[in-house]
Amino acid sequence: MSDVFKPGLYAGKNVFVTGGSSGINLRIAEAFGEMGAKVAINGRKVEKLEAAVAQLRARGITAEGYPADVRDYAAVEGAIEAAVKAFGGPIDVLVCGAAGNFPAPVAMMSSNGFKAVMDIDVLGSFNACRAVFERMSKPGGVIIAISAPQAQVPYPMQAHVCAAKAGVDMLMKTLAMEWGPVGVRVMSIWPGPIDDTEGMQRLAGDPDVKAKVEKALPLQRFGTKDEVAQLALFLASPAAKYITGSVHNVDGGMSLIGGNLLSM
Ligand code: COA
Repeated sequence: MSDVFKPGLYAGKNVFVTGGSSGINLRIAEAFGEMGAKVAINGRKVEKLEAAVAQLRARGITAEGYPADVRDYAAVEGAIEAAVKAFGGPIDVLVCGAAGNFPAPVAMMSSNGFKAVMDIDVLGSFNACRAVFERMSKPGGVIIAISAPQAQVPYPMQAHVCAAKAGVDMLMKTLAMEWGPVGVRVMSIWPGPIDDTEGMQRLAGDPDVKAKVEKALPLQRFGTKDEVAQLALFLASPAAKYITGSVHNVDGGMSLIGGNLLSM
């Protein structure tokens, strides 16, 4: 069997994570760092970003933080360029993690609210991918988008997220076709309900709602950030070197049970 998974798997690799100041994305950055990578994280709020970088460094990880709104191409490009300079080499793994979410039915959502999520998720992912392309290891680069089951399962109160995540997945699949020939693999991950995240706090913060959601899930519990990070570590590794253009759910079976789950 593969001898891929051992300490130092990502030594010498440079990882850039958008929306990396907290939650699933921060855990992903940390997990790559624990396996030896240098990690750059980006976020909108400077204080939150600095705290996250301090947390990574306290664990002995080489980490940098670059404030930028992923909706602003020049800012994202500047952040990625700064990481390349700081680390002295191209980006090996880009994680497009920045995402927006709030629960709202369409009849109570403004055009600007819909646009905010579309722009953060779809345009933001495009911007990061576009900016990284000239600054990525080729061959060998890997791009992972943190998408969601909403990309394929329609959920009431999530029209903006459903539209955005479907867009993100199609962007990733198209990039997998365009950039496969130069050795860049591109994939999506669908986390389901994950404990201790801002997204789940917004969608299922009430303990009664959480209990109902857990009961409905095939695996009967929320997932952990670590369970998502482990999938990212696998997908970016040589063990996954024939995988591209694919979507990988780590969702406790959430995507199997239909869209009324979150309208509870
Ligand atoms: N319900 C309805 N509309 C909302 C809303 C809510 N809970 N939260 C924000 N909006 C609307 C705003 O009213 C505004 O529309 P308007 O100008 O017509 O009033 C629009 O969204 C943009 O809000 P604003 O605060 O100006 O922009 P923003 O760029 O900060 O984006 C979020 C707002 C909510 C999209 C963004 O801050 C966000 O998603 N944060 C949470 C991140 C998160 O949880 N990520 C995990 C994803 S699973």
